[in-house]
Amino acid sequence: MTIKPELSLALRRIIHGVYIISTKNEGKVNAMTAAWVARASFEPPLITVAIGNTRHSHEMIKSSGIFAVNVLSVENIMLGKHFGLKTGKKTDKFADMDYDVKATGSPILKDCTAWLDCKVVSSIEAGDHTIFIGECLDGGVMREADTLIYDKEKFYR
Ligand SMILES: Cc1cc2nc3c(=O)[nH]c(=O)nc-3n(C[C@H](O)[C@H](O)[C@H](O)COP(=O)(O)O)c2cc1C
Repeated sequence: MTIKPELSLALRRIIHGVYIISTKNEGKVNAMTAAWVARASFEPPLITVAIGNTRHSHEMIKSSGIFAVNVLSVENIMLGKHFGLKTGKKTDKFADMDYDVKATGSPILKDCTAWLDCKVVSSIEAGDHTIFIGECLDGGVMREADTLIYDKEKFYR
């Protein structure tokens, strides 16, 4: 299906931050960059992440039922590229990467500005993506910094 250029431009007006979605399944950790992350409920605290069905992270989150959201700032663009431009199917993206674990065991990057540790409570198939709804079991702020806003031109420059 081809989307007409003007529709594509209009869709790009929706503002997103940039996050690293990490998970752990059968003893292995992996993470990917994601912009399609949103809050969904105050009580309980729920968030959604839209993960492409072909991502390695997709099968890992589906199987493990856990993920963490690592929030990035402008200083973390290299992290966004590291986790967003290659797949964990072929490489260990966590080799030489510092991280902690909290409630679920999903990696929390030491360089992120804030983190949310979630268990999947529901999922919805949405075209070529799956929306995972996660309940935040824990979360914290590591440092004060504005969240990185996704801008295609600046990100890939
Ligand atoms: C800035 C940026 C934002 C991205 N946002 C998403 C997203 O919201 N959902 C998604 O499925 N993929 C997104 N991606 C693509 C994945 O990060 C990329 O396909 C990654 O290699 C998947 O890794 P995995 O196969 O190890 O899970 C984004 C990539 C970048 C660079």
